Amino acid sequence: MPKIVIGSDHGGYKLKNMIIKHLNGKGLETVDIGCFTEESCDYPIIAKAVVQEVLNNQSRGILVCGTGIGMSIAANRFNGIRASHCTDTFSARMTRMHNDSNILCLGERITGAGLALDIVDIWLKTDFEGGRHLNRIKMIE
Ligand code: RB5
Repeated sequence: MPKIVIGSDHGGYKLKNMIIKHLNGKGLETVDIGCFTEESCDYPIIAKAVVQEVLNNQSRGILVCGTGIGMSIAANRFNGIRASHCTDTFSARMTRMHNDSNILCLGERITGAGLALDIVDIWLKTDFEGGRHLNRIKMIE
């Protein structure tokens, strides 16, 4: 699997660091796009930087902000991005199987760390089903 690209604003900074530690502990490589302090910053800038890495390297990305919503709105403005804001493991699995989600969005102020890490694991390990779902993705593009 290519390196997982990850970014957050200040609202998702702590959870982003937990996710990186979790993934690296499992031997998965990550690229940390920032932010690198808890100082207030602008989530659209981080979202765009992660999107560019994902599109350039055909990799997958994780974006964390306070709610996960701002990041998902920003990331989904780009062609080829299917960013999924998930607060449960069922959605994380289904958005990989049916939407070929390439960016996972999480909200540090919404989803506790234990659940968030489960969501990350399931989202990373679940494959796209293709078939009729591929046709639907082509319709979006
Ligand atoms: C920052 O306060 C907050 O607005 C941001 O992290 C995010 O939740 C936006 O959607």
